Amino acid sequence: MSGEIPAGWQSGRVTSIRDVTPTIREFGIVLDRAAACPPGSHVKVQVDLGGRIDQRSYSVVGQEGSTLRIAVKRQPESRGGSAYMWRLRSGDALAVAPPRCDFPLMHGAPHYLLLAGGVGITPMVAMAAQLAGRGTDVRMVYAARSAGEFAYGEELAGFLGDRLALFASDRGEQIDIADEIRRMHPDGELYMCGPLGLMEAVRGAWEEAGRPRSKLRYETFGSSGSHAAKAFTVKVPRLGAEVLVRENESMLDALEAAGVEVVFECRRGECGLCAVEIVEAEGEMDHRDVFFSPRQHRENRQMCACVSRVAGGSVTIEPAWRGDDAFAFAGPELSMGEPA
Ligand code: FES
Repeated sequence: MSGEIPAGWQSGRVTSIRDVTPTIREFGIVLDRAAACPPGSHVKVQVDLGGRIDQRSYSVVGQEGSTLRIAVKRQPESRGGSAYMWRLRSGDALAVAPPRCDFPLMHGAPHYLLLAGGVGITPMVAMAAQLAGRGTDVRMVYAARSAGEFAYGEELAGFLGDRLALFASDRGEQIDIADEIRRMHPDGELYMCGPLGLMEAVRGAWEEAGRPRSKLRYETFGSSGSHAAKAFTVKVPRLGAEVLVRENESMLDALEAAGVEVVFECRRGECGLCAVEIVEAEGEMDHRDVFFSPRQHRENRQMCACVSRVAGGSVTIEPAWRGDDAFAFAGPELSMGEPA
């Protein structure tokens, strides 16, 4: 284990490792102190990025006693967290934060649609198991790049049977999101986890169908954008700061390392706390958050420092935190994703 165990965290140990697809690796981690992980929970673990200690969040796929299963996709363009996790060996120690559930499964709906894209399947496995185990009316649609990239396909088929539909892009298959929504019970709920593009499509189709926002719940892994990650410069004129953001780090990490204070919470592009004002951008903005609406993204007035980037070039910003100064924070147009 690298680094001190942060206050309130505990130590865990890797007890099993298996590849559930060629690019997704599952880790069994036994905790010193058992903790309840309802479906939709995630844990933060401490990672070592070449000597710099950082944290990463991973959904809990399942829990057996004090052992949690998490799954990590190997990301060639990651900020180093997935590479660290993929180097772990059975028996290695790991600092683990108390599990949190920000994507809770609400009960009582007459019908559930679970929609997953890629590694976004990870929080959905426990949801599907619980809903199927209770005899609830549930359907899951799951898209992946290829047939070999369906993680947990057999496990899911075991408890969902023909209520599971798989869509492999390399077979030319695609989820018809509007049709799936149309077929839902009027009071049905949709749970979604996947890459940003899929999430935006689901949000758009949901609104188009006139469905209530409170019945669409989602979680993102907030790292996929429209452009490959490239290094860029962030300028903060008020502080006289000019900071290089390397291709494998976030703007938030780079600003923090340079001593520029930015408030944050989720680090996944969901809460909006890290939003900064864009004064000027040279290069195309690559908004990777789900906090702001597509229209707000097009306006390019604010960006979430934890996940959003510039596709090369530079951006001049005004951080939200100004000591005693007030900051006119526009806020999101849509506030979906929270529990009702
Ligand atoms: S910290 Fe939550 S959106 Fe950036």
